[in-house]
Amino acid sequence: MNASSAPGTPWTEANLPQLAGRRVIVTGANSGLGFETAKALAGAGAEVTLAVRDMTKGEHAAAAIGPRATAMRLDLAELASVHEFAQKWSTANPEGLDILINNAGIMAIPRTETPDGFEAQLATNHLGHFALTGLLIPALVAIPHSRIVTVSSLAHKMARKMNFDDLMGTKKYSAWGAYGQSKLANLLFTAELQRRLTTDGYSTIAVAAHPGFSATNLQGVAAKMRGNHREFQITEFVNRRIAQSAQMGALPTLFAATAPGIPGDSYVGPSDKWETRGYPKLVGRSASAQDMAQARRLWDVSQQLTGVTYPL
Ligand SMILES: NC(=O)c1ccc[n+]([C@@H]2O[C@H](COP(=O)([O-])OP(=O)(O)OC[C@H]3O[C@@H](n4cnc5c(N)ncnc54)[C@H](OP(=O)(O)O)[C@@H]3O)[C@@H](O)[C@H]2O)c1
Repeated sequence: MNASSAPGTPWTEANLPQLAGRRVIVTGANSGLGFETAKALAGAGAEVTLAVRDMTKGEHAAAAIGPRATAMRLDLAELASVHEFAQKWSTANPEGLDILINNAGIMAIPRTETPDGFEAQLATNHLGHFALTGLLIPALVAIPHSRIVTVSSLAHKMARKMNFDDLMGTKKYSAWGAYGQSKLANLLFTAELQRRLTTDGYSTIAVAAHPGFSATNLQGVAAKMRGNHREFQITEFVNRRIAQSAQMGALPTLFAATAPGIPGDSYVGPSDKWETRGYPKLVGRSASAQDMAQARRLWDVSQQLTGVTYPL
């Protein structure tokens, strides 16, 4: 992979390297940032699996992208589905996996539990991706310099630390608090995964990205769940007026997935002062997201909860 932008020129989709023959999985690729990410990577020649929970939406998205996109069912909120997906994908692609993009997510929804008994935001945004990545590690390390990109958020800064005493929010639940925790978990996961890959001498890297504020379905999901039409209309209005496009929001993910020479555990976001919009650049993260003791503890808890043990 050797595509970069000239010094001082913004990095755009035009800087994507040629990806013919590369295999990519994008979770939550039927809409928003995942769709734009998958479309751009397929446009650069990659074979892209759209990992989606709704096959009708997934097949519609694959048709819109073209013949290099294929939909495959993955519900991150069900461990059985994660196992089924990983096994099916690995059997169909014995050569290995070049890029895994952990993108799917839900935001600030009322408290619900998954069939595995986990709080839904932690389950979807972190635990499902933790299990998926662990099951796909053999496929990833089979390809030198493969990448794992996990999509976090500015909202990770809302979580001062992981609340290990009440990870599932059974004692006290706040919709935004749980979202912030899950996005902090994305960064702690990336840091500990990179540490383990480095220790074991693999060239595979784990990196993270965030899209700033981008107009997608994400902001309206909670309002729809509450049946609050007025709130939904407001999120639509704010998206139209303030947010950047989903295409712009996908650029940090695309940069993290392909830009040459970025170190493991990099974090990529938009370039404006508040990181809400703009072209991709390396960005900082909260002190809590750099706390390796917390990262190791989250790793252990995630292994226990998912039952997925990494070969690292
Ligand atoms: N948009 C922003 O401003 C923003 C800001 C910061 C971070 N992010 C992050 O960006 C990522 C992508 O979100 P987006 O903005 O593109 O929103 P989106 O358009 O709502 O896309 C989210 C995707 O995740 C999928 N998904 C949800 N639950 C799933 C599950 N259990 N299993 C499999 N897929 C599931 C959705 O599928 P369905 O269509 O079936 O629901 C959808 O395809 C998320 O991780 C989000 O936290 C977004």
